Amino acid sequence: MKHFLVILLTLLLGSLPSQAEKGFVNLTPRPKNVILYDGACVFPQSFAVGVSAELGDTAMVEARRFVDALKASMKGYDISLQHSVENAFIQVAPYTGSASNVGTEGYRLVIKENSITLSSLTSAGFFYGFQSIRKMLPPHVGLELPGKEGDVYSLPVVSITDTPRFGYRGFMLDVSRHFFTVEEIKRFLDLMAIYKMNVFHWHLTDDQGWRAEIKQYPKLTTVGAKRSDSWNTDIYLVDDYWWTGEGAYTGKPYGPYFYTQEEMRDVVAYAAARHIDVLPEVDMPGHFVAAMASYPEFSCDPSNPPSVWTNGGISSNVLNVANPAAVEFAKNILSELCDIFPYPYIHIGGDECPTSQWESNAACQARYKELGLSSYRALQTHFIKDISDFVATKGKRLFCWNESITAGGSDLDLMKQTGATIMCWNPCQSGALKAAQMGLDAIVTEYHAAGGGYYINRRQSNDYGEPTGAGYGDDTVEGCYNYVPVPASVSSADAAHFIGVQGTFWTEHVSSNEYLEYLALPRLICVAEAGWSTQSKKNWTDFKERLTLDTQMLDAGGYIYARHWMDGYIHRVYENPLKDGAVVTFTNQSGDRPRCLADNKGTLNGQADACTEWLLESNGKEGEYYIRSQESGKYLYASSTASGSMVSLDTKKMAWTFDETTMSGYVAICPVANTAVAVNNNVSNATHTRLFAHGTANGASFYKVELISMPDGTHHATLDAGPSPASVYDLSGRRLRRSVKGDFAIVDGQKVIL
Ligand code: ACM
Repeated sequence: MKHFLVILLTLLLGSLPSQAEKGFVNLTPRPKNVILYDGACVFPQSFAVGVSAELGDTAMVEARRFVDALKASMKGYDISLQHSVENAFIQVAPYTGSASNVGTEGYRLVIKENSITLSSLTSAGFFYGFQSIRKMLPPHVGLELPGKEGDVYSLPVVSITDTPRFGYRGFMLDVSRHFFTVEEIKRFLDLMAIYKMNVFHWHLTDDQGWRAEIKQYPKLTTVGAKRSDSWNTDIYLVDDYWWTGEGAYTGKPYGPYFYTQEEMRDVVAYAAARHIDVLPEVDMPGHFVAAMASYPEFSCDPSNPPSVWTNGGISSNVLNVANPAAVEFAKNILSELCDIFPYPYIHIGGDECPTSQWESNAACQARYKELGLSSYRALQTHFIKDISDFVATKGKRLFCWNESITAGGSDLDLMKQTGATIMCWNPCQSGALKAAQMGLDAIVTEYHAAGGGYYINRRQSNDYGEPTGAGYGDDTVEGCYNYVPVPASVSSADAAHFIGVQGTFWTEHVSSNEYLEYLALPRLICVAEAGWSTQSKKNWTDFKERLTLDTQMLDAGGYIYARHWMDGYIHRVYENPLKDGAVVTFTNQSGDRPRCLADNKGTLNGQADACTEWLLESNGKEGEYYIRSQESGKYLYASSTASGSMVSLDTKKMAWTFDETTMSGYVAICPVANTAVAVNNNVSNATHTRLFAHGTANGASFYKVELISMPDGTHHATLDAGPSPASVYDLSGRRLRRSVKGDFAIVDGQKVIL
């Protein structure tokens, strides 16, 4: 895995300019106003951070955290904190200019050669000002990692007046499809804080797993937090693991994985110390299979309980919103979460909820009639309104996905009454505009736009060997950066309702924290800049320069991130392993294991357990080969190139070509006349029309072997068994994923051994 992601950038990194040389301010997100002067402010070996006596405890709390972070990073420095600005090198004071310059989260930072002054009106503003100081210092300071004794710390002489563009700057993580530990989440909270993001949207539940301990309903975690090892989906991962992680095909369940209430409180506290609110989401009434598996009595068909899903997609098994006990169930769950999460909002999903089960459920039919509805969709709106009234009693307001107003048949008047914030993904822009025109606030989290949007789990490149993810490889880092969250065509009255942006990460394709980081970074940083920085000042070239410097910090923190966007990046390309001197084996099209093509010294008998190794010998023409059995020394031969003719062994040579276009994902061999030949597998006596090259792996039916030659000289291989193999085994007899990618030993030229 590590190898797979490693691209040598030593040269690049070695030549990164230091800030002082560049004469620019390496501060991301880009501040609102910056005036840069000549000169540098060098930190004395011993200095004080002084908080004005006019400021109270909250400013002292921020300053203490800042001092503690500096102490952890600036080895050998003597740093003290005092509640007075007298003789302090860093002075923290109330902001005295016009309040609109800094707002509720902004600050002013004046860095001179011998002093630094930070002023603000709020503790959030002080926090972000301190973050700016740390961010402009060497990379380890932002991450609170220790530097070396004797390190010199300096800042440019600059004055900054800064305030964010949006009040909501979010990151959503789906922990249902793949579970992440509290420590893994904290790594993201650290980065969010560095980049001044302020809401962690925690997608805690979905069809594939319930991840929040609810004391009143223990089965949500004893049953709902676990799923079987069976795999039954068209979503799969080309990686070391399926997205079910170690659960897939091992005979062991995935989970139970969930967060205890204590762990959730711990995340809330950790986030709060970084001025990040945590927005919990319980997706309902759809995407609720894990809950329905735990408590089927609240589903539309209790006699037919579902299992926690191992599929991706949209299930029609949803909460029975016409059953008062089911609605009570939902409220009781939210009630516990309202106690744990102090943020005054709670997210109840509302996306992708089929109405089919309601349409055939007697209670739903009765409720539909009773309410005089003309669409079953409106049952969902009534449910949302009911939940909205309920959470209001706990001082909370709702967030909902955009379907709550964009799905046909939703009751828009009721939705207006909820005052919910609408999280807009698809359709994003028109959904946000609709919300605004209804007087509701909107968050922009575009799922896919030309070039890229804010669904930062999607494929960001078509380089060979990219992790499989949703999308087509065109959700690039640059496209994500250049996405405009509020188009110029939106009126200022409507734009006032576009209150934020969010990087959203779904984990159907993610099997590890490394992949999460690789896909999310650096696009999350693009979203952070969109959240903070003025649109007119955003510029990809300038951002890229800062981001390139920030890779030093990401490296220092051990973060995995995509590098396609960097100058000097060597794009990975597919290298066909089938060439002169390659050693391959063959299987027939049906892939019935272990009947790969063997040379039992003269007969082509697919029944043999062992596969013969065949050597490709160039016949001197591009892409044409003689295929010689290593066992008998004879050549693969077809007496006729007509379709359906048999192959045999002969001392005569015959040229073959590899045809990768006949069926996608397969490599077939054809006589040079380009007609597929047949081979009898001697078991079912079925005649197969194509012969496939595959890697040597204990006779397993691997069809396609792809080798990636990395710039650092290592090789990696993909063994792809095609669209629907019965099973695939490795050398030790373990059942494997449909496709595997990882580190393989390369011996004998191109022979691939697992
Ligand atoms: C979503 O992507 N279903 C909100």
